[in-house]
Amino acid sequence: MSAAARAAAAVDRDRLWQLHMDFAALGATPGGGVNRQALSPEDIAARRHMVAWAGRRGFNVATDDFGNLFVRRAGRDRTAPPVVSGSHLDSQPKGGRFDGAYGVLAACEALAALDDAGIVTERPVEAVAWVNEEGSRFSPGMMGSAIYAGLRRLADTVDVLDPDGVRLGDALAAFLAATPDVSRRPFGLPLAAYVEAHIEQGPRLEAARRTIGIVGGIQGMRWFELSIAGRDAHAGTTPRAARRDAMRAAAEAVTAMAAATDDAGDALRFTVGRFVARPGSPNTVPGRVDFTIDLRHPDDATLDATAARLRTIVTATAGARDCMADMREIFTAAPTLFDATVVGAVRRQAEALGLAHMDIFSGAGHDAMWMARLCPTGMIFVPCAGGLSHNEAESATPEDLAAGTRVLAACLVELAGAA
Ligand code: GLV
Ligand code: MN
Ligand code: MN
Repeated sequence: MSAAARAAAAVDRDRLWQLHMDFAALGATPGGGVNRQALSPEDIAARRHMVAWAGRRGFNVATDDFGNLFVRRAGRDRTAPPVVSGSHLDSQPKGGRFDGAYGVLAACEALAALDDAGIVTERPVEAVAWVNEEGSRFSPGMMGSAIYAGLRRLADTVDVLDPDGVRLGDALAAFLAATPDVSRRPFGLPLAAYVEAHIEQGPRLEAARRTIGIVGGIQGMRWFELSIAGRDAHAGTTPRAARRDAMRAAAEAVTAMAAATDDAGDALRFTVGRFVARPGSPNTVPGRVDFTIDLRHPDDATLDATAARLRTIVTATAGARDCMADMREIFTAAPTLFDATVVGAVRRQAEALGLAHMDIFSGAGHDAMWMARLCPTGMIFVPCAGGLSHNEAESATPEDLAAGTRVLAACLVELAGAA
């Protein structure tokens, strides 16, 4: 049996499932999901849990100044750039148990499997937990991997505030202080390759009855913050003609923008996920509404054209209510195409394991987007029930999670080289 096949065979389904259940308890919600937003006490608990797990397995742990956490299994060549696998441990406010956690825990299980199978790799292999992938608390997301890859500066993120006014820099200091025994390493250390396992978060694998998604890339995305400014006024006394009602303007703008993005092929994704009226009093006409737009499509030019169209719509709609609109882009990611070598390794190992697979393009964003700018990168998807994600009911089967982890373990051996 090849070393890759032995690594795959050593993946322990029940141990992997138990790891998921252990982490799901950290920030568990009454609805069966997880609230473990970036840099929160629950995220700190998950970080400590991962450090403790690594300690029990005898792996070295290191972190950088943003708290990205690396668990290393040494290779024969200790100085060679490592092959790295992972994802994120932070969640949406009402998130599921598998988004992100799966990629981190699959990587941890793969390291354990390599150990149990007695495999020596040429290069080191690492599991990583990137910090603040979700961006639900501190926007935008995928911050830790972006900073690591040199695409964003740490100094530019520390003053970002969460919805309660907490500074990211202060939350980060507490996060780092919670694991004082973990050694520091710089950003941007070279990686030989990066492979991320993730639940699909969409319905295609399940519908096609395939276990493994061979991910060719990730669609492009843009995030915007919008504000509509009118004038606070008394709800009972202010006649219609005298109102500058930011709520009416914002509601009309969102409706018009949604209609404009309902494309025939259902490829364009338009989402308003946050919508806040101020001052937020039942008997005051709101003088200001702040909201967000998340826009995605596989083609960058379509995103640019759509963003310009949305800007025109919101300006005109606000103007018609005697309000002012402001639309600020806070995040942009061009579509990502993954590396042929890594994608080929995923395909080869899925086939070698006899797993039903299909090619797939990711609708969701992932840290792999930024790693792809740094080193050869690919991803492995497994199905999730009903394609549901960013939902407390998100679920995946122990068997599918293990199958993806077997492919991952084999890929890591292939990419790191059996010594
Ligand atoms: C990641 O969660 C994304 O928004 O795609
Ligand atoms: Mn994720
Ligand atoms: Mn997510």
